[in-house]
Amino acid sequence: MTLVAGAERLHSDLAELATYSEGGPGTSRRLFSDAYRDSRDWVRETMRESGLVVRADAAGNLVGVLEGNDPRAGTLMMGSHTDTVDGGGNYDGVVGVLGAIEVVRQFREEGRRLAHDVVVVDFLGEESNDYGLTCLGSRSFVGDLTASDLARVDTAGRTLGQRCADSGLDPHGLLAAGRQFQRPRAYVELHIEQGPVLEERGADIGVVTGIVGIQRLLATFIGQADHAGTTPMDRRRDALVAAASAVLAVRQTGCDAGGQGVATASDISGYSSGPNVVPRTARLQAEMRSIEPVWLSAAERRLTQEIQHMAESYGVEVDLEWIADNEPRPMDGTIQRRISTAAEALGLRWEAIPSGATHDAVHLARVCPTAMVFVPSIGGRSHCPEENTTIEDFVHGVGVLKETLTDLDSTRA
Ligand code: GLV
Ligand code: MN
Ligand code: MN
Repeated sequence: MTLVAGAERLHSDLAELATYSEGGPGTSRRLFSDAYRDSRDWVRETMRESGLVVRADAAGNLVGVLEGNDPRAGTLMMGSHTDTVDGGGNYDGVVGVLGAIEVVRQFREEGRRLAHDVVVVDFLGEESNDYGLTCLGSRSFVGDLTASDLARVDTAGRTLGQRCADSGLDPHGLLAAGRQFQRPRAYVELHIEQGPVLEERGADIGVVTGIVGIQRLLATFIGQADHAGTTPMDRRRDALVAAASAVLAVRQTGCDAGGQGVATASDISGYSSGPNVVPRTARLQAEMRSIEPVWLSAAERRLTQEIQHMAESYGVEVDLEWIADNEPRPMDGTIQRRISTAAEALGLRWEAIPSGATHDAVHLARVCPTAMVFVPSIGGRSHCPEENTTIEDFVHGVGVLKETLTDLDSTRA
């Protein structure tokens, strides 16, 4: 098995998976779309052809198993996701699933049977959905999905549980999936960096030190509808103006973080009765991320007060709902060292790097030693059609993943 052959296979797998898309610019395989459902039939078949025994668990995760030769050794798990944002690219998550499948192919071609079972998982719905909840499958896999998560309601009034049931996923299964699995000995996820750091520093591999926590905000502003021509400016209770000020306050929170965190207002919508009516209601969606739990909670307190004061100054009431998507999560130190050693053994330059994106690894880290391997993103672009990583870097990532697994296999817990 040469690296070149691996590169060709990875290239053709990437191209094939990219054909499954909802249409429009970029690649779209969102959680409840037909394109995502169909693409997973292809992933299942690709896992099978690569020698994995595949099953779908109660959470709708695709789980492929390559049996080891020591039933007491436990499992070494790799994986990621194959859903995308709307109008995304072909590498986010995909590299982790296809890369793990390629590792299995190489083990089999080399006639190597590990002591551990090697498990590859394509986790269901990692990207944020209409309910502001990321990592549906991995949350469920470790038993962290709750009935109140499934009771979340979208703007059309449908619950997440109902949407799952409508698309053939069993909501009870999603809640119970965590009880089915055996705790892995370790989980290692290969992923694109999705930012510019590795490329800028000329590194081939990122060894992830930790993954950011995310606090999401849904703010509803209630003012008063009035005539836009006759109501004096100082008597208005304009909900949209209050929401617009909150957008700037969110941005300022990120700018003031001094590199410790980021803050993004991603959507603002006003209820308008027409161009001649002062808006009565507005909704704002935002999020903050940081690797520092202390910064995250202090920023949440400050921003809450600031938005409340601002709304009050415009005569507008505001309801703020904060949702903790996940907490900051450090990666396992021992596996980080194994990854950097593997990179050096392959003659690759590595950098320690925190992840500003969230990943399925956040949830796996709750139940087993977990680590991530990053490969560079060209121009740091991600969550857009321009998302790209060279096939060479992809091959490097697969090589490091394989060496890390081999190393983990050679030492027992
Ligand atoms: C997932 O891609 C996230 O970081 O939101
Ligand atoms: Mn991802
Ligand atoms: Mn993503």
